[in-house]
Amino acid sequence: MTEEHPATMGQQFGRRSWAEPWKIKMVEPLNVIDRPARQKALQDAGYNTFLLRSEDVYIDLLTDSGTGAMSDRQWAGMMLGDEAYAGSRNFYHLEETVQSTYGYKYIVPTHQGRGAEHLLSQTTIQPGQYVAGNMYFTTTRLHQELAGGIFVDVIIDAAHDPQDPHPFKGNVDLDKLQALIDQVGAGQIAYISLAGTVNMAGGQPVSMANLRLLRQLCDRHGIRIYLDATRMVENAFFIQEREDGFAAKSIAQILKEFCAYTDGAWMSAKKDNLVNIGGWLAVNDKELFDELRNRVIIYEGLHTYGGLAGRDMEAMAIGIVESVQDEHVRTRIGQVRYLGTLLTNWGVPIVQPVGGHAIFLDAKRFYPHLAQDLFPAQTLAAELYLDAGIRSMERGIVSAGRDPKTGDHRYPALELTRLTIPRRVYTQAHMDVVAESVKAVHDARMHTRGLKMVYEPKYLRFFQARFEPLG
Ligand SMILES: Cc1ncc(COP(=O)(O)O)c(C=O)c1O
Repeated sequence: MTEEHPATMGQQFGRRSWAEPWKIKMVEPLNVIDRPARQKALQDAGYNTFLLRSEDVYIDLLTDSGTGAMSDRQWAGMMLGDEAYAGSRNFYHLEETVQSTYGYKYIVPTHQGRGAEHLLSQTTIQPGQYVAGNMYFTTTRLHQELAGGIFVDVIIDAAHDPQDPHPFKGNVDLDKLQALIDQVGAGQIAYISLAGTVNMAGGQPVSMANLRLLRQLCDRHGIRIYLDATRMVENAFFIQEREDGFAAKSIAQILKEFCAYTDGAWMSAKKDNLVNIGGWLAVNDKELFDELRNRVIIYEGLHTYGGLAGRDMEAMAIGIVESVQDEHVRTRIGQVRYLGTLLTNWGVPIVQPVGGHAIFLDAKRFYPHLAQDLFPAQTLAAELYLDAGIRSMERGIVSAGRDPKTGDHRYPALELTRLTIPRRVYTQAHMDVVAESVKAVHDARMHTRGLKMVYEPKYLRFFQARFEPLG
C-alpha cells in the first residue's frame, strides 16, 4: 500500500470495505458550470443556496428531504396508483404498512411533514400552553407558535456543544422538564415534542433508556409524547450500535419498541421513508384521530389521500418497508460517516459525533474571526458553492429566526452549515469531491468576510432571505 499502490477506502480506514445493497439502473446527468458562472448564479440568488437553480448545482447537499432515489419496486408501485378520490387501495396499503412498521393505530396521510405538524399543533395546543422539545425544528416550532404554543427547549446541554462526544445528544434533560412542570404545571404543557434523530443538533439520537424515563415522568403527570419520526429509522440504528442490549435486535424491532413509548408521531416521508413527497400523522387515541381526520379535509384533502396521489402513497408504503432494512441503514449512515471521517482527519471542525443524515460544519470554529451576526454559516454555504458548485444549507442564526416577543435575532449556540446526504443518490467519489472542496475552503478561511442581510421575509426567513457580501 505505497503511494504508487493506493489502498481501497476500507483499507485506509482499517476495515473491510462495505458497499451499498443496490446497483444503479438509471442515471441523471449532472451539469458543471465554471467559477465565473457560479459567481453570477450566487449573486442572482442573493447568496442564499435555497435560491439557486438546481441546474447550476453540481453536487446537491442542500437537503435529504425528497431528494432520495426510489427503487425499481417503488417505481413499479407508482404504476399501481389507484387515483380514486375516496378509498384508494394505496391508502389502505400505506395505513397497514405504517401500523405494522411503526405500531400506531390510526393514520392520517398528509402532503408532507409540515402538513402533519400543522394538524397536530392546531388540534392539541391551547393558546398560552407550553410545548417542551428536544431542540426546536424550524417548521415544527413555527406551527406550534402559530397555534399559540410557547416552545421550551429541554434537550441535554451536550447537544449545544458541537464537540461533546455524548453518544445520545438528542436525549431529553429530565431535570429541565421537571423544572418546567413545577413552574407552569403539567396541565399547561400541551405535549412533549420529541425528535429522533435531532436534525438541528446534527442528526443526534435519543436513547431508549432516556425515552423510558421520559415516559415514566410523563405518565406521572399525564403528559403526552408525540414523536417527530422523520429520521427515526436512523435513530434506531444508533440505538442498535451504541446502547446496551440492542446489538442483536433489528432496526425494525428497535423502531417499533421506541414508538410504543410514544402517543403518536408525525412524519416527513421525504426522508426515512424514501419518497420524493409525502407525510403522515399517526396516533393511538381514537378521539384525537376523529378530530384530525375531520380537520385534514380542510387543509390537505380527504382522509384517504391527504394531498397525495394514490401512486405517491403506494411508493411510500413500499419505501417504508425498504427503509427499515438493516443493510440499507448501515450503508446510508456509513456514507455520511465516510465524509465525516475524511474531514475530521483533515482538521476541519464538524459536529461530533457524526449524526445520521448529514455532516454539520461548525462555522463558529471554521470562521473564528466572524461574529455571529455576520452569518458565518450562511457565508460558508456560499463559499462552498463558489468553490466547486456544492450546495449546502445554513443551520444557525438565519434558521433560528427572531424571538417573537423581542423581535431580536435568536443567537443559537450552534452555528452550522449542513452537508446533507440524499439517500441512495451519490457515490463515494462524490463524497471525495465534496471533502476536497471543504478542505480548500477551510484552507482559504482567513480571507473570508461575512454577509449582510438585505431582504428578510417574515416567516422561516432562511428559505428566501437575501444577502450581500461584506468587504
Ligand atoms: C426533523 C424534521 N421535522 C419536520 C420536517 C418538515 O417536513 P417537510 O419538509 O416534509 O414539511 C423536516 C424537514 O425538513 C425535518 O427535518
